[in-house]
Amino acid sequence: MRSHYCGEVTSKDLDSNISICGWVHRRRDHGGIIFLDVRDIKGICQVVVNPENKAAFEIADKCRNEYVIKVSGAVLKRPEGTINENMITGEIELEADNIQLLNKAATPTFPLDDYQEVNEDVRLKNRVLDLRRPEMNHRIVSRSKITSCIRNFLDKNNFHEIETPILTRATPEGARDYILPSRVHPGSFFALPQSPQLFKQLLMMGGFDKYYQIARCFRDEDLRADRQPEFTQIDIEASFVEVKDIISLGTEMVKLLLKEFVNHDVKEIPELNWHKAMEDYGCDKPDLRIPLNLIEISDLVANEEFKVFSGPANEEGSRVVALKIPQGNNLSRGQIDEYTKFVSKLGAKGLAYIKINNVNDLENGLQSPILKFLHKDTIKSLIENLDLKTDDLLFFGAGSNNVVNLSMSSLIKKIGGDLDLYTCDWAPCWIVDFPMFEKNKEGNLTSLHHPFTMPKSSIDDLNNSPDTVIAEAYDIVLNGYEVGGGSIRVHSPDMQQTIFKALNISDEEAENKFGFLLKALSSGCPPHGGIAFGLDRLVMLLTNTTNIRDVIAFPKTQSASCLLTEAPNSVDENQLEELFIESTYIEED
Ligand code: AMO
Ligand code: AMP
Repeated sequence: MRSHYCGEVTSKDLDSNISICGWVHRRRDHGGIIFLDVRDIKGICQVVVNPENKAAFEIADKCRNEYVIKVSGAVLKRPEGTINENMITGEIELEADNIQLLNKAATPTFPLDDYQEVNEDVRLKNRVLDLRRPEMNHRIVSRSKITSCIRNFLDKNNFHEIETPILTRATPEGARDYILPSRVHPGSFFALPQSPQLFKQLLMMGGFDKYYQIARCFRDEDLRADRQPEFTQIDIEASFVEVKDIISLGTEMVKLLLKEFVNHDVKEIPELNWHKAMEDYGCDKPDLRIPLNLIEISDLVANEEFKVFSGPANEEGSRVVALKIPQGNNLSRGQIDEYTKFVSKLGAKGLAYIKINNVNDLENGLQSPILKFLHKDTIKSLIENLDLKTDDLLFFGAGSNNVVNLSMSSLIKKIGGDLDLYTCDWAPCWIVDFPMFEKNKEGNLTSLHHPFTMPKSSIDDLNNSPDTVIAEAYDIVLNGYEVGGGSIRVHSPDMQQTIFKALNISDEEAENKFGFLLKALSSGCPPHGGIAFGLDRLVMLLTNTTNIRDVIAFPKTQSASCLLTEAPNSVDENQLEELFIESTYIEED
């Protein structure tokens, strides 16, 4: 229908006759002459319609925003003074010879250029309109380009793209399953995959050597800005590999993406030990662009009378940390109160602080609600050990490891953003040497990664002291977001059974749930390992947003529903009967 995309008409087309198709982005009536900005996926082209051309003028006069039109005419240079240097098409305009109205449009629910003001729910309900906005168009197209770049990279590295089932059994990745009733097997259910984990391992046992898949995963878990119930992984597995091989592959892939899509050169990606990361940053996904870290001061305050500090300092599973904000002294009382509220929402009981107004004057140069509770010597040691300078600010976190780590790591990210402390644009890192297990609230061991991860210890060690075992697992973190994670897998049935035992999974349950895996492990399983990258998170970061929904064409809300189609919804009674399902849910008034 068209000879050119709107956004690609430039001076090189001057004086030629062309045709474009697209949406009326804006219509301006300049007393006798009508200007139409016509938009398509590549950009906007200005169309000028003279009243002498009666037929075209009549149609242009009726055009409203978002009408779909085709325009043919000659490309002319814009008159002096009307050139727009910010637009690729800013030097030219298309003089309409013929305009065809291809389709009308109802008045848009929101203007396409004022989208910042539009509530996200309204955008999601009217997603078609929202997707037309150049910014969204760009993000979704970038996603396609990023996916294609990854595909090329993996193809070049001899990986085979293989699909795995969506209708399957539960795969333990730590979330709840989405389940689906089977009509042919009444009373039985499929689970949607939380990841293709077991299938990719089975493919290695099937001899495929290197696998990848752009895999849709489903997890019924608490949603956050960087989590969706349905998301996409770049899922990778390879045979006869060790940790260093997967880390090297992942490093090459991330380097390529950063070069291709944000023109950033990465030399190497540092590796951080998990325990060290927890100690220094309070989390295993530190944002290394922010030059702030936690300093353990439990020893320093263990003998203080101030119970807020000495309590946790002497308690197993608790810690006291300091966080130095260089030049942070100009934070106002109001800002400190805001940060105190921020950490209390994450479970902290308070946020003690010391302002260093003059480091040389211990009597009058410090400002803090806790000075009266601390010995002079302790304060002196703090100043020395933390190399405090005039105008620094010190925050403190004391309490259980979980609360201190969560609240203080979040505080680092918050302050880093608020005060714009970033030292660079991109800071990827690998986190390695994860513990194999963690204890849940009930005190039982659960896998930190998943139960198919190879421990760095023998079966005996695993039996004797499972909670100290380190896993051959790794995550890759970019600017504070976990963008990928994986491990070397267990390849012997004995080790796999030992892990199930540590997790309190009985032989019977193991056989029932994972019998097919144990059998395959006994059939000549190669050592293997892999990783999965979160495609949505990668695209989110590479397109400069912190909202995962902005890089998914049809995302779910924070409460896991689709506002456009209104899914999930109720189904016909007949359908439920066919499935032998009866709902016990009683709607609240
Ligand atoms: P994991 O559970 O760490 O590992 O997931 C891998 C990556 O997927 C992304 N991700 C998500 N993205 C958006 N929304 C979610 N709800 C969500 N959950 C996870 C993250 C994460 O790093 N089978 C293993 C991989 C392996 O061992 O090879 C797995 O799924 O970026
Ligand atoms: P309080 O004795 O509760 O009035 O606390 C004195 C100071 O210590 C206040 O500035 C609190 O914000 C701070 N504080 C209290 N509990 C904690 C904690 N667990 N971690 C860090 N600071 C705390």
